[in-house]
Amino acid sequence: MKKAVTLQELDQALEDYRNSGKTIGFVPTMGALHDGHLSLVNLAKEKADIVVVSIFVNPTQFAPHEDYDAYPRDVNGDIEKLKPLDVDVVFCPTKDDLYPDGTDSAVKAGSNAEGLETIFRPHFFDGVVNVVSRLFDAVKPDVAVFGEKDFQQLMVIREMVETLGLDIEIIGGEIVRDEHGLALSSRNAYLSTEELEIARQLNKIIRNAAKTKDLDTAKAELLKTGFDKVDYVEKRWNRILAAAWLGKTRLIDNIPVISTER
Ligand code: PAF
Repeated sequence: MKKAVTLQELDQALEDYRNSGKTIGFVPTMGALHDGHLSLVNLAKEKADIVVVSIFVNPTQFAPHEDYDAYPRDVNGDIEKLKPLDVDVVFCPTKDDLYPDGTDSAVKAGSNAEGLETIFRPHFFDGVVNVVSRLFDAVKPDVAVFGEKDFQQLMVIREMVETLGLDIEIIGGEIVRDEHGLALSSRNAYLSTEELEIARQLNKIIRNAAKTKDLDTAKAELLKTGFDKVDYVEKRWNRILAAAWLGKTRLIDNIPVISTER
C-alpha cells in the first residue's frame, strides 16, 4: 500500500495504474476507521481495479462550535486496518494540500441538502461538497463509495456529480451495525457505557417508525428512552431518517420505510 500526502505524491502513486487503464475506486473518509468504512473499501474493491482511501478530517464541514478538534484521529491505526484489505493507495493530505488557496469554493450543495441536517448544521453540506469535489479532482476516480448511514450526504454527492457532469459512479454502501443494531460511527467512541445502552435504542425506534410511519411517537420514544434532544425524525427518499443527541454526541441513523401493504 502506497501512502501519499501531497497531490504530487498522489499523482505519482497513481501514474502507473492510470497509464495501464486500471479503473480507480475511491473511498473518502475522515479516518477513525471502523468496520463500516472497511465494508465500503471492500465494495470499492468489487467495483474497480484499484482502490484509493483518503483520510482527512475536513475543517470546512465543521462549524466553530462543533467537534473538529476533538474528532478522533489515529492515522497510523487506520493504515494498519487498511493493510489487510489490500488497499492500493492511502491519501492523507494536509489542509494546505487540499486548500492551497483558502477554503472558498464555487461548488455548493444542491437541493438535496435542503432540510434535515442543514437545519441543524447549515454549513455542513457546502463543506462536504467543497472537500469531495477537491478529492475527486485529485483522485479522478471511476467509482466512489459513500456510506448509507449519512444518507442525505449520499444524495447530496449524487446530485453534485450530476450537476458538475462528472463521470463518476456513486455507490451507496449499506449501514454496518453492531449486534444491537447500533449503526457504526466514529462518534460512537464518545459514548459512555450508559449512553451506549441508550444509543442502541435509536435503530429500534426508527425501525418501528419505518413500519408505523408515526414520526411523533418515535420522537417521544427517543426522549423517553434517554436521548437529550431530537433534531429530527423525518421521512424522505422512502426512508425514516433521524438525528438525536446524547449529551454532547449527535447520532444519526436511517431505515428504509417498510411497506405494510399486502
Ligand atoms: O462521510 C464522511 O466521512 C465525510 O463527510 C467525507 C465524505 C469523507 C467528507 O469529508
